[in-house]
Amino acid sequence: MPSILITGANGGLGVELTRQYSADGWRVLAAVRDPARASDLDPIVRASGGGVTLHRLDVNDRAQITALAKDLASESIDVLLNNAGLMESWDYTFGRIDYALWERILRTNLIAPVNVANAFLAHVARSERKLVVTLSSGLGSMTDNTWGKRLSPGRLYMYRSSKAAMNMATKCLSFDLKPRGVAAVVITPGHVRTRMGGPGAPLAAEESITNVRKVIAGLTLKDSGKFFFYTGSEYPW
Ligand SMILES: NC(=O)c1ccc[n+]([C@@H]2O[C@H](COP(=O)([O-])OP(=O)(O)OC[C@H]3O[C@@H](n4cnc5c(N)ncnc54)[C@H](OP(=O)(O)O)[C@@H]3O)[C@@H](O)[C@H]2O)c1
Repeated sequence: MPSILITGANGGLGVELTRQYSADGWRVLAAVRDPARASDLDPIVRASGGGVTLHRLDVNDRAQITALAKDLASESIDVLLNNAGLMESWDYTFGRIDYALWERILRTNLIAPVNVANAFLAHVARSERKLVVTLSSGLGSMTDNTWGKRLSPGRLYMYRSSKAAMNMATKCLSFDLKPRGVAAVVITPGHVRTRMGGPGAPLAAEESITNVRKVIAGLTLKDSGKFFFYTGSEYPW
């Protein structure tokens, strides 16, 4: 049975990832910051007959990451999915930047996924699929920040910079993990109706994740270091 570790599994896309992988027969290690606030996962855990397990993980807490990696030392993890992410607001413009929040966003969206990949590398390297997947965003694309079709360019310094830097970190991982046979990719799920994406987003979580899973299913080591759109096409950096 293939297995996946999902961070931030209680959020919009995390719940849908857990639901779909569980329904497909995968073992799902659902990591959540606060299990008491993961009620959306309860019916999925109950229906899974032990296939979905909940694990406490604040991705910004290094001690928790190390402890969970040790607890799961006997597991092989086919897909490590760095899903936990933070945006907080669409409103911050130049001159109104919250620098403390920017640091928290960088810790969550950039430093944590690298830290988690480092802690779980051995679990992934001993699996069949050997994949480290991080959810990125079109907002982290330099190219997208010039088009201004849906969103005006500029603004959103904190979130955009965190995802752009994570893209670079993934490119670095793709070289460093290759000798272990592990691929590292970034995928943007599209603009999805979740707490982060907002109610006006065009995509439902089910449609986004159905497609993200197809992208993941087709990945090989040759794809390592690439940036994908949820539809499967490559996304411009
Ligand atoms: N929705 C979109 O349109 C969209 C577009 C592009 C990319 N993405 C990316 O997709 C991923 C999932 O987003 P979403 O739309 O599902 O957002 P969401 O509904 O806001 O969920 C975010 C999840 O991340 C978790 N999280 C935040 N900080 C954490 C921490 N320090 N430790 C552990 N978990 C933490 C949250 O946990 P708590 O409940 O404990 O806060 C929540 O479970 C993110 O990486 C996001 O950047 C989303």
